[in-house]
Amino acid sequence: MLDKIFGRDIALYIKAHRALITVAIILSALSALFVVVPAYLLQPLVDEGMKSSIEAVEWRIPWIDYTFPFSVKRAELTLLKGITPNQLLISLAAIAFLSVLLKSITLYLSKLAGAAFSNRAVRRLRIDLAQKFISLPLTFYHKRKSGELIARATADLTVMQNTISTITIGFVENPLTLIVFIAYLLLMNYKLTLLVFIVVPIIVGLVGLFGRKVKKHSTRVQDATAEVTSSYQEIISLLKIIKGFLRERHESDVFKGLAHNLYKKVMHWNRWELGVGPMMDSTMFLVIPGIFIIGKIYFNHSLGEMVSMLYALARAYIPVKNLAKININLRTLQGATARVFDIMHTVPDIQDRAGALTMPKLSDGVEFSHVNFSYKPGELVLRDISFNVKAGQMVAIVGSTGAGKSTLLDLIPRFYDVSSGSIQIDGMDIRDATLSSLRGQIAIVSQESLLFHDTIANNINYDGGRYSEEQIQSAAVSAQAHEFITAFPDGYETVVGDRGMLLSGGQRQRIAIARALLKDPAILILDEPASALDPESEHLIQKAMENLVGRRTIFIVSHRLNTIKRADRIYVLENGAIVESGTHDELMTKNGRYRNLYDIQFER
Ligand SMILES: Nc1ncnc2c1ncn2[C@@H]1O[C@H](COP(=O)(O)OP(=O)(O)O)[C@@H](O)[C@H]1O
Ligand SMILES: [Mg+2]
Repeated sequence: MLDKIFGRDIALYIKAHRALITVAIILSALSALFVVVPAYLLQPLVDEGMKSSIEAVEWRIPWIDYTFPFSVKRAELTLLKGITPNQLLISLAAIAFLSVLLKSITLYLSKLAGAAFSNRAVRRLRIDLAQKFISLPLTFYHKRKSGELIARATADLTVMQNTISTITIGFVENPLTLIVFIAYLLLMNYKLTLLVFIVVPIIVGLVGLFGRKVKKHSTRVQDATAEVTSSYQEIISLLKIIKGFLRERHESDVFKGLAHNLYKKVMHWNRWELGVGPMMDSTMFLVIPGIFIIGKIYFNHSLGEMVSMLYALARAYIPVKNLAKININLRTLQGATARVFDIMHTVPDIQDRAGALTMPKLSDGVEFSHVNFSYKPGELVLRDISFNVKAGQMVAIVGSTGAGKSTLLDLIPRFYDVSSGSIQIDGMDIRDATLSSLRGQIAIVSQESLLFHDTIANNINYDGGRYSEEQIQSAAVSAQAHEFITAFPDGYETVVGDRGMLLSGGQRQRIAIARALLKDPAILILDEPASALDPESEHLIQKAMENLVGRRTIFIVSHRLNTIKRADRIYVLENGAIVESGTHDELMTKNGRYRNLYDIQFER
């Protein structure tokens, strides 16, 4: 049932809370029963209770006489008799009061249970979505704006949070209320009631039409909202550039455009969404005067009967209207669900293969054999790369920008998988190993070191807290970071701003190196660790590196050729292929590309 209404994906999350759903539904069913009580009270109130005489009156309600086997006759049931009109009034008022109270309590409790189960379902989905974001490979994010993904995670989940319980409960509560009132109306006068049903197909048709329009436009609204969210994010993260290039005006104009577009989409959506209610009202209440006339002239109903029937009719119409609204909500929800589960169903293309093995700690070496790689089919970024590195050696890769150096490094921890060929560690293809055992022995320092909004100590100890303060400090000392950290008033407890904005590039980089050193990896990957740095920081980092040579297997990309002079082997990469290799001295005497790069750098 839930599958049918919501679709299987989200239903799975909702079904986990069956008990709460049942409670919510039973309570709302009870509250639906209480709303019919006033209909039974109105007729005696008007026809009997209002009499000014003191003669005894009776309270009778319409009933069914059922005799075996098939004889159903309309009858009346006397509930109270031999009381004065005033006594009847007081009794009716007491009953009305009690039924309103009970209805309110059951309704409140049922809504509370509804809020609980829908929010629990959304909480689970929210956690799963975050886990999905973490587990998806980097390739997933290349083609998408992070702001749009954030918008999905917030706006779409908010839609779910707000609609799941109203829909679930509404699909039980409203039909039930409807049945109760229709039963009452049929009892009162089935001919007149059936007459009203003429408008039902018209209403159903119109609601269907509006529903389709709303779904279409709500998807557009969500997309436009995502664009706006993503623009906020871009503005905040690129603020320095925007200000520096005096593009504040331009950026706010662009944003104005997006905001206006969102406004237009929202208004299109509103045109249909807000139209449903009035459209139904006018269809429905156009027939009311007719009923009055027919009821009086043709069926000879008393005023009390007419009032009570009209009350019941008006009340019976509310659940119809609610169902229409729920249909609209459901359409909005379906749009949100489709987008969220589009992400949830993305299968990470890089994950442990079945039967993946734990990779032992590197002892022999790393080998690239005939590795080809492309981001897009047909555009090779790496061509036939073959080389090997013995454990404990340092390999350097140099080459011009865009040669494929970073890409090559990214293949080692399997941020991307080779397109053909293979990478082996101690003879084991890295695709046969579990990701955790592979990445567990690799530490990475990249060109642009980002820090978490947290203390310096926690940023160094990002691995997870099993290190002592001394170990953290000694990693910082080796990374030449201890000195500047202790110069801060709060020392290691200094909280760095978002992305580490509080620190200079060189300081961030040295913290990143300390982080990598603390992990004590077998393989250390450094992608232009010194590229954005001043000569002094570069010098310090070089010193930090020297502490490591011979103790780790190091892959380093750097165009500061001083940093890599000590490498056991240097590979020159051009256009994705290795064009030269050797030690610094060998390459210098060769007078090739490396010598050329070196001469340019030192202007010889
Ligand atoms: N995520 C990506 N999607 C598509 N192409 C990419 C991606 N990352 C890098 N490239 C392309 O791959 C080539 C090599 O990039 P990269 O490895 O970053 O070079 P390097 O680090 O040597 O400067 C470049 O042409 C670059 O445009
Ligand atoms: Mg690079």
